[in-house]
Amino acid sequence: MCPPTYFTVSYEINPWMDPSVPVDAARATAQWEHLRDTLRDLGHHVEEIEPEPGLPDMVYAANGATVIDGVAYEAWFRFPERAAEGPAYLRWFSDHGYVTAKARHVNEGEGDLLTCGSRVLAGHGPRTDVAAHREAARLLGREVVSLELVDPRFYHLDTALTVLRGNDGGTPDADCDVAYLPAAFSPESREVLEDLFPDALIATDEDAEVLGLNAVSDGRHVVLNPAATRYAAALRERGYEPVGVDTSELLRGGGGAKCCTLEVRGEPRLPVASRDTPGAAVRSA
Ligand code: ARG
Repeated sequence: MCPPTYFTVSYEINPWMDPSVPVDAARATAQWEHLRDTLRDLGHHVEEIEPEPGLPDMVYAANGATVIDGVAYEAWFRFPERAAEGPAYLRWFSDHGYVTAKARHVNEGEGDLLTCGSRVLAGHGPRTDVAAHREAARLLGREVVSLELVDPRFYHLDTALTVLRGNDGGTPDADCDVAYLPAAFSPESREVLEDLFPDALIATDEDAEVLGLNAVSDGRHVVLNPAATRYAAALRERGYEPVGVDTSELLRGGGGAKCCTLEVRGEPRLPVASRDTPGAAVRSA
């Protein structure tokens, strides 16, 4: 996670952002700390990356990379305002001994590349390029399922779909579970989702329009916007434990709990001292 030290809404790259309304920085920080502490209280280990001045969206750590089996696949942002975040996150991973894989195609990390069992569910359209899906498959060694996003409000896959079970990357595919908003996907992608997840929790516009689907699930607890009451009830009925955490100030930038959280799967593989060794990183040659 990345503290919202420099968080503000100074540009507009999604329909949720309005630079004319000032951000309450103290409130954003208190909400972010509450989210971090909630994840820790649920038993998760949370690392913090140093925020960088001039990168107000760096708080949305989910976009920083995609990490599976100890390999961190670099994010490459669609908009220049966020371009420096990709290298900043990748540096954190190489500094901590992870194998890093350079990107050559636009992809916004775990915002669009959601691990689900043996696969990666991958959004494209508003942000991530479909070419990055092939790159991710090659560098992460996972099957990538391409899904087209069609509603500008749900511009990253993690705003339209929650991986409820299987997010760890080690869960058998048959045990995976997702929730999604069908209307956020093209008809073809809806068919793909129906085939893969015939028993999925079908979300409603009411759930999605408060970014309720932008939730962090560990397979049991689902941390989400408390305003998504219908979604929380549906989750409870399905055996999950919804945990409401108000991140309304961070919603002003177009992100919720999931956007603020990058999941790290797998252990570092390289001794930390080798991080400057040429060739230590996987290159997308
Ligand atoms: N303002 C950021 C952007 O538009 C919000 C990113 C939200 N992150 C996410 N994983 N959905 O890029």
